[in-house]
Amino acid sequence: MKKTEFKRRRSQLMKMMGKGTIAILASASQVTRNRDVDFPFRQDSDFLYLTGFSEPDAVMVLIPGRKHGEYILFCREKDPEQETWHGRRAGQEGAVEDYDADDSFPIEDMDDILPGLLEGTDAIFNIMGRYPEFDQQLIGWVNHIKAQSRAGLHVPSEFVSLDYILHDMRLFKSREELKLMRKAATISVSAHERAMKLCRPGHYEFQIAAEFDHEFRQCGAQHAYPAIVGGGANGCILHYTENNEVLNDGDLLLIDSGCEVQGYASDITRTFPVNGKYSPAQRDIYHIVLAAQVAAIKKVRPGNHWNDPHNAAVRVITRGLTEIKLLKGNPTRLIKEQAYRKFYMHRTGHWLGLDVHDVGDYKVGDQWRLLESGMVLTIEPGIYIPAHSKGVHRKWWDIGIRIEDDVLVTNTGCEVLTEALVKKPDDIEALMAG
Ligand code: GLY
Ligand code: MN
Ligand code: MN
Repeated sequence: MKKTEFKRRRSQLMKMMGKGTIAILASASQVTRNRDVDFPFRQDSDFLYLTGFSEPDAVMVLIPGRKHGEYILFCREKDPEQETWHGRRAGQEGAVEDYDADDSFPIEDMDDILPGLLEGTDAIFNIMGRYPEFDQQLIGWVNHIKAQSRAGLHVPSEFVSLDYILHDMRLFKSREELKLMRKAATISVSAHERAMKLCRPGHYEFQIAAEFDHEFRQCGAQHAYPAIVGGGANGCILHYTENNEVLNDGDLLLIDSGCEVQGYASDITRTFPVNGKYSPAQRDIYHIVLAAQVAAIKKVRPGNHWNDPHNAAVRVITRGLTEIKLLKGNPTRLIKEQAYRKFYMHRTGHWLGLDVHDVGDYKVGDQWRLLESGMVLTIEPGIYIPAHSKGVHRKWWDIGIRIEDDVLVTNTGCEVLTEALVKKPDDIEALMAG
């Protein structure tokens, strides 16, 4: 991502904030795994979006119109010994040279410097509640100024939620962002293809999961979320991530896995037969889910609202389940009663971006949000029929099917970013037969 893109975002944000304001945003922190070992560090998405800076222990400050520089980055100082052990740091010079900060100070000095930056502003834009310790620090600085108000210091009078404008910006993807999302989609597509080709009865779920680790890392990407590789009954567990069981002849395998590239996610699910051939019952259910997904994708276009694709999927699934007698009654009534929720208990998608379940409002007031060009969402209907489901013939048991693609709203309709990955049963069988 070019430096100019981050600068453009900061300028846009500052324009919306207006004069007399200050935005303060903390980076993510390292999280300890055990003793002196940390989990791999992942930068806070909002922080990454505005700075491109991927170190922990940093704080971004934006002060629109400030004469001595609008963008200040607090970060770790350079420290040869620490860097020998734990890796390079940008330091204050790097923050200015490489990340376009107008000024940069050591994070240790923040307590001394921040009250001075807050003083004289009217409104503080921040994200309350994400890092409670940081919130406490911020309140402490404001109280510090308040204590001196008799000496003439101007106390900021309001906290404003930064989420509102920042997350609306993040909802609309730029050309640069879409480039990365397309790349993430392409890598994830190859990984799913590898998995389909490799899958055999007797393999373990983790062996298939390893294909994703390999393909993602080989391409310089990483998992956008823990992969779900669920054979048979495990395909009916929505967030199954143990991935440790053997794959049986005759079962389906549901894989929900996507990578992120420079933070930008992809999110794909395919469900295919472990032995390379769908059984008639599996095909019946698969056809319903696929028809639901196709109908939902058709509803992705500017001017439609967020819930239109979901409604379309629900209609197709309810009708389909009625035809094969898994639901009984009048489809319109069944939809009203949400009878489909016995087999389809999640929603048809979510925004996609720097977070896999990306930020952005789904409603404006009490109305569903209208889809607009530049938004990216997933379309992922499914049907899940665990064994011993009440009143369900055993031929349907342990069929869990989800089909998920990533869809960009365009000016005229939509573009499926993950279209290259096969999803018709015949095409999947052909690929697996290789
Ligand atoms: N991979 C998480 C989801 O599909 O929402
Ligand atoms: Mn998803
Ligand atoms: Mn998914």
